[in-house]
Amino acid sequence: MFTFTFQLFSFLLLSTTATAQPYKATEILLLNCGSSSSAITSGRRWDGDENSKFVPSNIGTTSFSSQPSVQHPSVDQIPYATARIFNSFSFTYMFPVSQGPKFLRLYFYPATYYGLKADESFFSVSSNGYSLLTNFSASLTSSFLSKPSFVKEYIIYVKDTQILNVTFTPSPNSFAFINGIEIVSMPEKLYFKNKKIRFVGTYLGPVIDDYTGLENMYRLNVGGAQISGNDDTGMYRSWDPDGSYLFHSLMMGLTPVSQIPITYTTDTPNYTAPKLIYQTQRSMGNHSDQYIRTWRLPVDSGFWYMLRLHFCNLIPKYTIKGQMIFKLFINNRTAEDEVDVFFWTPGTGYPVFKDYVVFMNGIDGYGSKRDLWLSMLPNDQSQEYRDAYLNGLEIFKLNMTGNLSSPNPISSFTTPPEKPTSPIKLKKKTAPYVVIIGGVGGGIVWFSVLVLIVLWWRSGAVDKSWWGATSTESNSTNLPSDRCRCFTLKEVKLATDEFNENCVIGNGGFGKVYKGYIDNAKTIVAIKRLNQSSSQGVHEFRTEIAMLSKLRYLHLVTLIGYCDDNGEMVLVYEYMTHGTLREHLYNTNNPPLSWKTRLHICIGAAKGLHYLHTSGKRMIIHRDVKSTNILLDEKWVAKVSDFGLSKLGSKDPSQTHVSTLVKGSIGYIDPEYCKTKHLTDKSDVYSFGVVLFEVLCARPVILQHLSGDQVSLASWGKSCYRRGSLNEIIDPKLNGEIAHRSLMKFGEVANGCLHEEGSERPTMEDVVWGLEFALKLQEAADEAMPEN
Ligand SMILES: *[C@@H]1O[C@H](CO)[C@@H](O)[C@H](O)[C@H]1NC(C)=O
Ligand SMILES: *[C@@H]1O[C@H](CO)[C@@H](O)[C@H](O)[C@H]1NC(C)=O
Ligand SMILES: *[C@@H]1O[C@H](CO)[C@@H](O)[C@H](O)[C@H]1NC(C)=O
Ligand SMILES: *[C@@H]1O[C@H](CO)[C@@H](O)[C@H](O)[C@H]1NC(C)=O
Ligand SMILES: *[C@@H]1O[C@H](CO)[C@@H](O)[C@H](O)[C@H]1NC(C)=O
Ligand SMILES: *[C@@H]1O[C@H](CO)[C@@H](O)[C@H](O)[C@H]1NC(C)=O
Ligand SMILES: *[C@@H]1O[C@H](CO)[C@@H](O)[C@H](O)[C@H]1NC(C)=O
Repeated sequence: MFTFTFQLFSFLLLSTTATAQPYKATEILLLNCGSSSSAITSGRRWDGDENSKFVPSNIGTTSFSSQPSVQHPSVDQIPYATARIFNSFSFTYMFPVSQGPKFLRLYFYPATYYGLKADESFFSVSSNGYSLLTNFSASLTSSFLSKPSFVKEYIIYVKDTQILNVTFTPSPNSFAFINGIEIVSMPEKLYFKNKKIRFVGTYLGPVIDDYTGLENMYRLNVGGAQISGNDDTGMYRSWDPDGSYLFHSLMMGLTPVSQIPITYTTDTPNYTAPKLIYQTQRSMGNHSDQYIRTWRLPVDSGFWYMLRLHFCNLIPKYTIKGQMIFKLFINNRTAEDEVDVFFWTPGTGYPVFKDYVVFMNGIDGYGSKRDLWLSMLPNDQSQEYRDAYLNGLEIFKLNMTGNLSSPNPISSFTTPPEKPTSPIKLKKKTAPYVVIIGGVGGGIVWFSVLVLIVLWWRSGAVDKSWWGATSTESNSTNLPSDRCRCFTLKEVKLATDEFNENCVIGNGGFGKVYKGYIDNAKTIVAIKRLNQSSSQGVHEFRTEIAMLSKLRYLHLVTLIGYCDDNGEMVLVYEYMTHGTLREHLYNTNNPPLSWKTRLHICIGAAKGLHYLHTSGKRMIIHRDVKSTNILLDEKWVAKVSDFGLSKLGSKDPSQTHVSTLVKGSIGYIDPEYCKTKHLTDKSDVYSFGVVLFEVLCARPVILQHLSGDQVSLASWGKSCYRRGSLNEIIDPKLNGEIAHRSLMKFGEVANGCLHEEGSERPTMEDVVWGLEFALKLQEAADEAMPEN
């Protein structure tokens, strides 16, 4: 029932707009990229590309769909509220269409998609052998145009193959995206097969034939208002006002809006341009002096351009030939010496257009932007009136060799260098001092602890890591974020000695992890190979690349690259010498970690999660925090890993959760998330609380053979903390090592993380702070009692 009404509705909408139009397009294809459903906007139906017949069947593995993290209010929902992202391979949309010229319109909204920033996106677009865009930056183009979203329009002559291909290819270490694709047919003779083109400044120039690729640069309703695609003649061309391109705008008069009926002719058929184009114009009035009217339009140098000028006399006092004659200049060269519209048309209200072709030299070097000049000036032969007028203007870039790409415009502003990440802003909380003083009654020992802490803070030592890795931290945060490399299968096989079993260092649900050597065996890496049979893994594989390739932080494991070749999916990480945190806690032959080392590891991991939650425009929720996803490098620096289940938080900052299927690992999953399906950053906080008890007690999070409360470490830890018996469950290997205050603080943090209600749990920043405090208490205690 719903589909029926939907279709009826769309039929009604489509048919009402279609009947009035002079040209009835044989093909109109509207693809809303990144969407799975159909939607109607301005009477036109856009289909999602998710299950579209125009996309390859492997769409899900070679691309993914996303939504802008924030959408500018002036940007239309359709097609800009979704995008398809291609982050490694070429992707081709294939449209079966009839032979003949087609408009191809590409809709771009440069925004942040899935944590991928559009200003880091460079890609190429080609179609039927035409190179439309090369290493194109939608972001730079958007700032050059001062428009948040924009449309690129091309005309492609589809030959007898009857296929229009559109291929997106990301530049190396980058990604491509597209929000919408539109294909509309046009009358054969509208722009092609016009024998009467005039060349400006040269006797010879290109002929526009079936092999010419055209890109529309401007389509202006001179002296008039914006005309939307729906008010075009059936080809959905939109026409912009010309005001911003006028050189001496004050001198440009507007002909009063006339109701003169427009009569099309065989030379100017009714689909050429809408009546509204011809019903408005800019004229000069009758001036004695030599006014020159000029439009300046920036274009890419190094190309030929076709200008189509639309004229129609609307001024009642001009009635016969010879009354009003003017000159036309393009780039200061004469295009027409004597324009008398009455020589070209039967009279007032009859439209006419003329095409001119001009070459734009690259004065400032190939590919730079240059102004194309169009000027009009009364001819001295014009006896009665000294005037000139223009009704419409279209400008196309041409290329016969099939390459329409130009370099990106230079950004008008320089993007500030990426803010160095200092995720841990140590709030100068005062409460803990009060607690200590109150709790100890100002005893001499605790007073000295306090002094130590204050000194510690003053010296800035809190920012320095105990392993002296401060320089690593600043280095790693300054790394360019697009360092994710694409490896070939050959390179990966070389690195792992053909996936030799002897290289296996781990085994997970995802597949095996190998130790490998890359760059002439200079660099050791961990290579995670996706199990061929794992279907869920493919999605997680892509999520991991999307998330991790843009993140660089000391406490997050670094993704060096990936390989997606010949059905093999492989992720390449920095090698973590000491493996997972779990391997150093229980069921292991590794020597036990000291309490302070454990605290440092917990603080590092907490900083990593805090960074995920707060450093981007949108929060990233890890969703699978556990002791096997905290890795340790050769200096015992903790790094959070495995982003396969990660989720971006809501675009709307006031919305604190995202609704999603419950995923995670048993024993660590936030019970509130299980109940409500609402995932928040506090779900990570909960899981991290479980890790804290794991670190303290060195036991598995679930022990089936135990009774009651003790099965789950989360509930057992909590109840012991509340009963004040925490010291009874700590790892026996830590006996006598933990200062009581440090233990209490640690227990308080862990217990807080496990609060039933997410809103009551601390933030990761609070957790970092609390753990650092526990460490300071421990160090102060060690100082005070050196015999310990
Ligand atoms: C456009 O012109 C064609 C041919 O002259 C004619 O058949 C058609 O009715 C016209 N359409 C409109 C909307 O004026
Ligand atoms: C379109 O792309 C398909 C698949 O890449 C290719 O087989 C075909 O030759 C292409 N057609 C044209 C006209 O470029
Ligand atoms: C792509 O363009 C950007 C900026 O215009 C430039 O920095 C980068 O080197 C270019 N990449 C390639 C592969 O040409
Ligand atoms: C137009 O201007 C010229 C020069 O100022 C003048 O000679 C002529 O009479 C004017 N024509 C009309 C119709 O006002
Ligand atoms: C046209 O002439 C003006 C003034 O002499 C000059 O500033 C401008 O650069 C010229 N334009 C072109 C395209 O040559
Ligand atoms: C086509 O574009 C190439 C640059 O890609 C340029 O070198 C060539 O001159 C152009 N040809 C024409 C006829 O515009
Ligand atoms: C098209 O021209 C651009 C320069 O603007 C160049 O970088 C690119 O390689 C060319 N593409 C082809 C397919 O020739």
